[in-house]
Amino acid sequence: MTSLVVTDIGELTTHGPQGTLRDAALVVHNGRVAWIGPTAQAPAADRAIDAGNAAVIPGFVDSHAHLVFAGDRAGEFAARMAGEPYTGGGIRTTVAATRAATDDQLRASTARLIAEARRQGTTTIECKSGYGLTVEDEARCLRIAAEFTAETTYLGAHVVPDGADPDAYTRLVCGPMLDAARPYARWVDVFCERGAFDPDQSRAVLRAGIGAGLGARVHANQLSAGEGVRIAVELGAASADHCTHLSTSDIDLLAGSDTVATLLPGAEFSTRSPYPDARALLDAGATVALATDCNPGSSYTSSMPLCIALAVLQLRMTPAEALWSATAGGARALRRDDIGHLDVGARADLAILDAPSHLHLAYRPGVPLIRTVLLNGEPT
Ligand code: NIG
Ligand code: FE
Repeated sequence: MTSLVVTDIGELTTHGPQGTLRDAALVVHNGRVAWIGPTAQAPAADRAIDAGNAAVIPGFVDSHAHLVFAGDRAGEFAARMAGEPYTGGGIRTTVAATRAATDDQLRASTARLIAEARRQGTTTIECKSGYGLTVEDEARCLRIAAEFTAETTYLGAHVVPDGADPDAYTRLVCGPMLDAARPYARWVDVFCERGAFDPDQSRAVLRAGIGAGLGARVHANQLSAGEGVRIAVELGAASADHCTHLSTSDIDLLAGSDTVATLLPGAEFSTRSPYPDARALLDAGATVALATDCNPGSSYTSSMPLCIALAVLQLRMTPAEALWSATAGGARALRRDDIGHLDVGARADLAILDAPSHLHLAYRPGVPLIRTVLLNGEPT
């Protein structure tokens, strides 16, 4: 039951009705934002942090990450930089390493990635399974993910494991594997793509998950055009992720729905692929989120500031749009209203920057600008 006041905030981005405040202060009580206003009027609190005229932003909401895995794929990365294309086929390499790892090894590597993300301002992170692909290994990966975050996603339908029949494997994903995953998962996801799961299989996986009480999200239109976005909207998914190869009708569908378009520019950056058309989505009125896709294959970064810099410099989002998408947009993609903003009543998850303005996140790419992170009102 302690309170904390952050004073002398040069620029406070709230993403709420009060917009952006200058010379501001923010009071935290019981882990929630209790007051925001001018520093000169700030009420007293048990503890104080002087922001020294720096910018304060909501903590990043990374709504798409694959953190429970073992090993890495630096060799695959080197081959790609020598001209090999990214196909997703390397997922099976990570599956083999993950199955061979102990629970404690997976726990330690997940913890390391979450700590790495936290140091870069991430206060909420979604975490998928998808490198187990057996009943036991998918449940195990989700059980470990659930030790770190409430936003856990069952991705048994990541690829068809070596030697398995695609339809038989899809039935396993929709039946016994779902039953084993269900206690640890909030979401279900499917990689809807040539070489992964086709539209009928994708619908079956999502319907089974929804029937078991999970929310839906989709890896959609990542490597090629296809039906992923259409299926996501049709089934009321919270998010269609990647959205790299969209038709105008995909864009219209997203704009006319509650399905968030989650862009993962770290994946295009790390696979030397063309970027999604963020401007077309925003101009059509779609809700856009930004996330890292942190995984050992297509995007081995945990850095939301990097994704913001890419969104601004490569996807032509404005710095304000990119910050919104990396915070409030991610919250929408997770159907959360307690995070991604700093209105009174929000969770006190925030970052104090080593910069006077949020503009510096894109203006100074690659520079560690996160000075202090408060999680639930507590410095981390
Ligand atoms: O989102 N597309 C599917 N899954 C991941 C990549 C996984 C991997 O390459 O290990 C993605 O890009
Ligand atoms: Fe992904």
